[in-house]
Amino acid sequence: MKFSTATVFVCMATAANAFAPASTISTSNSVSNSASALSMSGVTRNPNFAKLAGGYLFPEIGRRRNAYLEANPDQASRIISLGIGDTTMPIPPHILSGLVDGATKLGTKEGYSGYGAENGLASLRQKIATVLYNDLISPDEVFVSDGAKCDIMRVQQMFGSDVVSAVQDPSYPVYVDTSVMMGQTGEIDKATSQYDNIVYMPCNAENEFFPDYASLPRADVVYFCSPNNPTGAAATKAQLEGLVKTCTERGSILVFDAAYAPFIRDPDVPKSIFEIEGAKECAMEVNSFSKYAGFTGVRLGWTVIPAGLKFADGTPVKQDFSRVMSTAFNGASIIAQGGGLACLDPEGQAEIEVLIDYYLGNAALLKEAMQSIGFKTVGGDNAPYVFVQLPEGKSSWEMFSEILEKAQVVTIPGAGFGPGGEGYLRLSAFAPRDNIIEAITRLKAVMV
Ligand code: MLT
Repeated sequence: MKFSTATVFVCMATAANAFAPASTISTSNSVSNSASALSMSGVTRNPNFAKLAGGYLFPEIGRRRNAYLEANPDQASRIISLGIGDTTMPIPPHILSGLVDGATKLGTKEGYSGYGAENGLASLRQKIATVLYNDLISPDEVFVSDGAKCDIMRVQQMFGSDVVSAVQDPSYPVYVDTSVMMGQTGEIDKATSQYDNIVYMPCNAENEFFPDYASLPRADVVYFCSPNNPTGAAATKAQLEGLVKTCTERGSILVFDAAYAPFIRDPDVPKSIFEIEGAKECAMEVNSFSKYAGFTGVRLGWTVIPAGLKFADGTPVKQDFSRVMSTAFNGASIIAQGGGLACLDPEGQAEIEVLIDYYLGNAALLKEAMQSIGFKTVGGDNAPYVFVQLPEGKSSWEMFSEILEKAQVVTIPGAGFGPGGEGYLRLSAFAPRDNIIEAITRLKAVMV
């Protein structure tokens, strides 16, 4: 049905006097006088959204890059992105064949399927449990989804607005932004750039980018990412044992983000929190095929919630997460899940190793280049991000702009990941090798 402007106006006037300003009610003569009022609904804005300090980080980076290109259109072909961690290598053949098979089946009577199980194909849940977790967890503790980022929002919906969350500072912005959206926080303090009612866990050179949660106020939910986005720091087994112990003692639930686990090469760095004793009673894990296999556009991830993880009243956490999934999600794409199954075949695993080695090779080049011109760096060994410490007094947004304008290289300012990221710049290793080499030449010229 189409409403004319006048019809909409009449509906507002009759049904919604309570919220329509007096000037918009009654006579048709007032219609033209109320054009601006008519461009608004009568719905109160969710006040939590008004608390958000700005737009989401990555679109903001894109906006600044586009603004630069609008002013300098001749530079368009020179732009190199070391910004958002988006994969660039094509999906390798065996994994691709899984995606193709997933699609082909849909064109046959026998292979067609409509809605799938909202928690994922049983075969994929089984394979995730066996191939990636060595059967440390069981398939019915795996929830297959469209990605870790989406699962973090669903996890927040499950916890609701009455919990206090703790985040690493700096951190992947989704944890903080979704906490704000859910109404867990107060306003942002302009002086500190921190939201009231979030526990910020500083990660810096002094603590080797691993937070001391035990010395900070207790939080209900602790978000922790290793290998870390944005710092690239990877927590050791001993460090994670300490974190699990503190969460257990304090009754906190640890949400472990393992999206960068395939980049781990150090045998002392656990790939999953469930390698740590006691984690099945205090932790859940979000994960994703995005960075494993170039699935950033395909969309496939999973969350593991052990049966032993319980709320204070004894309700299994997985029961409520399953309720969220079955209510607000209809299952990951059947085609994507076909690709996920292929990722976990031995051939798929071998292809993933090649992809990851390639990106780690890029990371090593970036790290070496930054160090060669005198910068201290973190990450890049077990992670696709190199976090570069800037000279004293140089703001990360200033450095971002200078590099964009003088070198046409897109980076991410550390401050975009929280106040603790100020003074750092994040470089992503996901660009093609030629671009990495060219970017290094230009960065060296601009940053020395
Ligand atoms: C990043 O650049 O931090 C990530 O690619 C963003 C994401 O995975 O959502």
